[in-house]
Amino acid sequence: MANNAKSATGASRRGLMLGSVAGAAALAGAAAAQGPRDGRTDTEPRVLDGNPMPEPGPDKTAGPVKPARGSQLAGKVAVVTGAARGIGRAIAVELAANGADIVALDIAGPVSRASNAKPATQADLDETVRQVKSYGRRCEGVKADIRDIAALRRVADKTEADFGRIDIVVANAAIQRWVPLLEMQDDDWLDTIENNLNGTANTLRAFAPKMVARKKGRIIVLSSMQGKHGTKDASSYSASKWGILGLMKSAALELGEHNITVNAIIPGLVDTALTRYEKRLSESIGETTGKPPPENPTPQESWDIRAGTVPMKVGWLQPDDISPVAVFLASDASAMVTGAEYEVTGGDSAKDI
Ligand SMILES: NC(=O)c1ccc[n+]([C@@H]2O[C@H](COP(=O)([O-])OP(=O)(O)OC[C@H]3O[C@@H](n4cnc5c(N)ncnc54)[C@H](O)[C@@H]3O)[C@@H](O)[C@H]2O)c1
Repeated sequence: MANNAKSATGASRRGLMLGSVAGAAALAGAAAAQGPRDGRTDTEPRVLDGNPMPEPGPDKTAGPVKPARGSQLAGKVAVVTGAARGIGRAIAVELAANGADIVALDIAGPVSRASNAKPATQADLDETVRQVKSYGRRCEGVKADIRDIAALRRVADKTEADFGRIDIVVANAAIQRWVPLLEMQDDDWLDTIENNLNGTANTLRAFAPKMVARKKGRIIVLSSMQGKHGTKDASSYSASKWGILGLMKSAALELGEHNITVNAIIPGLVDTALTRYEKRLSESIGETTGKPPPENPTPQESWDIRAGTVPMKVGWLQPDDISPVAVFLASDASAMVTGAEYEVTGGDSAKDI
């Protein structure tokens, strides 16, 4: 009896710790919570030693099983940065294919001398808009630079005014630099960090307040396997992508109380304009074999060498191999997933700690 009284007090305290509104809902729910809940798979009475189990409020659970709940984004609005091409485009189009309206943001032009990829163009951004609209969704292509937080705040205001809400933000835009530390010019380091790490932080800082005001949101950042280990001759990129994981986990700690989740997708090597050039193919062979790579490997040589070591036997992935994970992380089904890293690498990451 004494034990029961003690655990009842404990349960009340735990309920109140959820916050006053959620706590009250928890206790109200707990009072009625003797039998199975509608749609829940757990059919056991929810009591322990005669004491009701605390119930999470509706914002504190993914809810009962519903068909397609991990892919249903109808009525949601997503902002995707770096959406003109590559992984950003695939994510924008995949979110749209699952029901979301899209603001596709990209600089659609040169970013820095310290970028090995050719710049994206307005035509690339227009193509993303076309593909999103082909799924019957609304789409706005916006030319903006993630290094400019004032511009991002204007986009946040305009998106809210035009679309009525912002449910999902995907901070995807980035550049990559291949150059040894000892040969670096200042901008090889500074521009990569400024663009990738500061730009991603700008994106969170510009858009998260809109989600805080609505007490709900999904933030997805793009890191990289190169942000999980060092990368010979690409230290500024590696450091920027490692920093993004620290940012993601810190944001998850701060924003959870507002029902906002923050997670990272960690792609392996993906064939995009960021990576489709001889130096990258050659570096990827070096990373894989640990030996000095050939100068100008053919794509097939590079694929074959890498595929031999990747569990799914691919040399690299396609952008649309990455985007399905974004749909789950953007959905209501991922309500209790935050601060997490989702590796999509064809199994390449199984050998990393
Ligand atoms: N391709 C890969 O192998 C790979 C692997 C791991 C992680 N990633 C990450 O995935 C994300 C997408 O990469 P991708 O391969 O699609 O590259 P990509 O170069 O094809 O696309 C990146 C897009 O971001 C845009 N962008 C860059 N800086 C910007 C800025 N300051 N403001 C606005 N837009 C900007 C570019 O214009 C471009 O359209 C990046 O964060 C990248 O680091 C890629």
